[in-house]
Amino acid sequence: MLLTLRVPRSRLCLGRQQHRRLLASTAPEEAKRQTTQHPLQLEINGNTYPTDSWTNVTPRILSHLGLNKHLQRDHPLSIIRQRIINYFYGAYRNQRGNPLFSVYDKLSPIVTVQQNFDNLLIPIDHVSRQKSDCYYVNREHLLRAHTTAHQVELISGGLDNFLVVGEVYRRDEIDSTHYPVFHQADAVRLVTKDKLFERNPGLELFEETWSGSLADPKRILPSSKCMDQTKQPCHTLEAVKLMEHEMKHVLVGLTKDLFGPRIKYRWVDTYFPFTQPSWELEIYFKDNWLEVLGCGIMRHEILQKAGVHQSIGYAFGVGLERLAMILFDIPDIRLFWSNDSGFLSQFSEQDLQNLPKYKPISHYPQCSNDLSFWLPANVEIDAGFSANDFYDLARTIAGDVVEQISLVDKFKHPKTGKTSLCFRIVYRHMERTLTQAEVNEIHKHIADASVEAFNVQIR
Ligand code: PHE
Repeated sequence: MLLTLRVPRSRLCLGRQQHRRLLASTAPEEAKRQTTQHPLQLEINGNTYPTDSWTNVTPRILSHLGLNKHLQRDHPLSIIRQRIINYFYGAYRNQRGNPLFSVYDKLSPIVTVQQNFDNLLIPIDHVSRQKSDCYYVNREHLLRAHTTAHQVELISGGLDNFLVVGEVYRRDEIDSTHYPVFHQADAVRLVTKDKLFERNPGLELFEETWSGSLADPKRILPSSKCMDQTKQPCHTLEAVKLMEHEMKHVLVGLTKDLFGPRIKYRWVDTYFPFTQPSWELEIYFKDNWLEVLGCGIMRHEILQKAGVHQSIGYAFGVGLERLAMILFDIPDIRLFWSNDSGFLSQFSEQDLQNLPKYKPISHYPQCSNDLSFWLPANVEIDAGFSANDFYDLARTIAGDVVEQISLVDKFKHPKTGKTSLCFRIVYRHMERTLTQAEVNEIHKHIADASVEAFNVQIR
């Protein structure tokens, strides 16, 4: 998930991989896509953007804006989002016992080139800026390629501990593990000298020899100049080591919280333009080392740009789909976009700690039947009758052929004062097509049992 913004050392000079990318970008299919005519302007979320030769967003990609799967109740991505947030709430509290981190999960995914790249010191010729890698609205705006794009605006706004969650867009092939829209969570934590060296007040964040001058915003250092894994020239080794220790401790804690205390993990040195030193955390899963997150000590130029001069920070970013696929055993990334109740009804945020394993959705057709009844006089929903009791009863009788039950209608009779409820029951078999006749029979059983158990009157 942390694909293109990470540049392995071999790719920094025009290595074989990058060469292949350049060739690929002139392939006939790509050429066709690039010359596709766009309207003169695009209307997105109520804003108008003039198009130009950089425009390559497609209506299909734009249709993902606002779907907010990470905020959809009971969606696996929303469950993972909450697990990460809750972990950070627990890991860092202020003196009053309140969470230190604030969460931004509704920021617009349309960002500027400055937010997505320049602010993060991503070199002008970096592969991740290419038209073939991103969805550009025009030469100045794109759909964010990582949630890291919001760092500088949030720090400039005065924040020092925050999480950003949202969907990101990268041009990619579509297969069971790649989809051009996926979700990330990013975090930033800034610490001042007083806090970091609480117990060693003699220590400093910055090297005495460092001038402290503001980085020239036009002079982005070439990547080769910031690959030293020890530290950035401005920081003291003590500051970096303490920060690294805290960050790794917290991120291993998060990993254990998600995957259990016995998960095997390892730290791998890496390079990101916006952190130095940088690492990836890998976990051992199904006989493979899998990268789960990227992190590092924030480049001081970024903090300076955001108006923060007396702090050191760490940042990390993690892809939610990969976590969810492992934790719920979801085999295909496309399922996260499914509206099939057979998929959605398997997950619930009632119990965030016990994550169920995904059961393949049946490809046999669904069959839906409604059941309406009057509750006894003076009984109402949650006052003498609970919908959950009905759900349990239906599942006891019908077992796994009941895929989903929802309350679709409820009203009170104006004269008798009795309450009427209508439940929609979706039936589907895992191995074969159910006939309407057999569904009717099961449905009748549920109706009879409801009369018996709840004293209701079928309508
Ligand atoms: N933005 C990086 C990616 O998408 C992840 C990252 C975030 C790495 C913050 C370090 C710090 O690959």
